[in-house]
Amino acid sequence: MKKLMIIGASGHGKVAADIAAKMGYKQIVFLDDNTEIKECLNYPVAGTIKDAKDYMGYDFFIAIGDGEVRKTIQEEIIRKGCKIVSLIHPEAVIGSCVEIGAGSMVSAGAVINCKTIVGSGCIVNTSSSIDHDCTIGDYSHVSVGAHLAGGVSVGCGSWIGAGAIVNNQVFICESCIVGAGAVVIHNIEIPGTYIGIPARRK
Ligand SMILES: CC(C)(COP(=O)(O)OP(=O)(O)OC[C@H]1O[C@@H](n2cnc3c(N)ncnc32)[C@H](O)[C@@H]1OP(=O)(O)O)[C@@H](O)C(=O)NCCC(=O)NCCS
Repeated sequence: MKKLMIIGASGHGKVAADIAAKMGYKQIVFLDDNTEIKECLNYPVAGTIKDAKDYMGYDFFIAIGDGEVRKTIQEEIIRKGCKIVSLIHPEAVIGSCVEIGAGSMVSAGAVINCKTIVGSGCIVNTSSSIDHDCTIGDYSHVSVGAHLAGGVSVGCGSWIGAGAIVNNQVFICESCIVGAGAVVIHNIEIPGTYIGIPARRK
C-alpha cells in the first residue's frame, strides 16, 4: 500500500494531500510542529517533525511554502534516511525529457514543456507554465498562473509570483522574489525583489 507522510499541515499541505490521493496514495498522514493542528483535508496530524523517524516505511513530502524552511527540513529528513518523493497532479502536462527533482510538486493544470529541468523541492503551482529548455533551481516556486517562456533559468530559492511573466531566455539569479503580475524582460543578476512591468528592483 502506498503511504505518504506530509510535513506541513497548511494550505499547501492540503493541496499536496489532494494530489497524493489522486496519485494513488491510500494512507496519508501529516506531521506539523504546531500541535494545535489535528487534521488537514481530513487526514490526521500524527505528531511533530521529530517523529519522522517512526515512519520509515512511508514516502515523505515537505509541504512548506517558504523555500528556505522547505530546504532545511527536506535536507534533515533525507539525513534521517527517509525517502522523499515528488507529487505530480495527474492533470499536469509534462513534456518529453523533463526532469523533476525529489520533493517537487507540480499542481493541477501546470504545463512543463520538453527538456526543462526542475530541481529538488520546487513548487510548480496551479495553472503555471514553464516552456521548453528551462532550468528551475532547487527550492524555487513558480506561483499560480505564472508563465515562463522557453529557455528561462531561475536560480535556487527564487520565487516567481502569481501571474508573473518571464520572457524567453531570461536569467533570474538565486534568492529572488518576482512580484505578482510582474513582467521580467531583462536578466536579473542581483538577488532581491522585483516588481512591475517591466520588472524593476523594489
Ligand atoms: C512583491 C511582494 C513580495 C512585495 O511584498 P511587500 O514587501 O510586503 O510589499 P508591500 O505590500 O509592503 O508593498 C510595497 C510597495 O510595493 C508595491 N507592490 C507590492 N507588490 C507589488 C506587485 N506585485 N506589483 C506591483 N507593485 C507592488 C505596493 O503597492 C507598495 O507600493 P507603495 O509603497 O507605492 O504603496 C508582494 O507584494 C508579492 O507580489 N508577492 C507575491 C505573492 C504571490 O504571488 N503569491 C502567490 C502564492 S502561490
